[in-house]
Amino acid sequence: MKNIVLIGFMGVGKGSVAREIVKTAKCIAIDTDDLIESMENRKVKKIFADEGEKYFRDLEKQVANWLEKSVKNTLISTGGGFYKVKNLKKIGTIVLLDSPFDAIIKRIKAHPNAKGKLKKRPLLNDLQKAKELYDGRRPEYLALADVVVDVTNKSAVECTKEILKKVKKNA
Ligand code: S3P
Repeated sequence: MKNIVLIGFMGVGKGSVAREIVKTAKCIAIDTDDLIESMENRKVKKIFADEGEKYFRDLEKQVANWLEKSVKNTLISTGGGFYKVKNLKKIGTIVLLDSPFDAIIKRIKAHPNAKGKLKKRPLLNDLQKAKELYDGRRPEYLALADVVVDVTNKSAVECTKEILKKVKKNA
């Protein structure tokens, strides 16, 4: 199996879908934010606060190079800005989890830990700015994706079925 790389905006559900894919496909999964937090022994929010965004983006590039060279047969979930790394397409099949901005925010706010979900994401602090970021990124996400799945109002199980079917077709 080629790696499957989940991309998409913050809060769209990459983590939940990744966990469901692992259950169904019995594969191993890794998450780029988790890797960065382990490398740095601090949370993404703290890295942004202490070092600024550029430092974080450089770590993403480092992770991308390692993924390309050393990781196979793996489900890789990514932070919402990870798609900007130059070698993204060389890492695996790119699957975009797509949803309108308002639906994403609604999804986050419906979560029992909504406050925590918003707090840990520095780029979601200002919703007006986040919307601008979304509008700028969405065409770029679409241009890079091998597979696009509209996840709006779908369960992780439904998304997983659709993703695995489409990835198989794309192979
Ligand atoms: C970011 C998304 C976050 C995290 C960081 C930056 C972004 O990950 O990598 O806060 O630029 O969109 P999630 O997409 O998992 O929230």
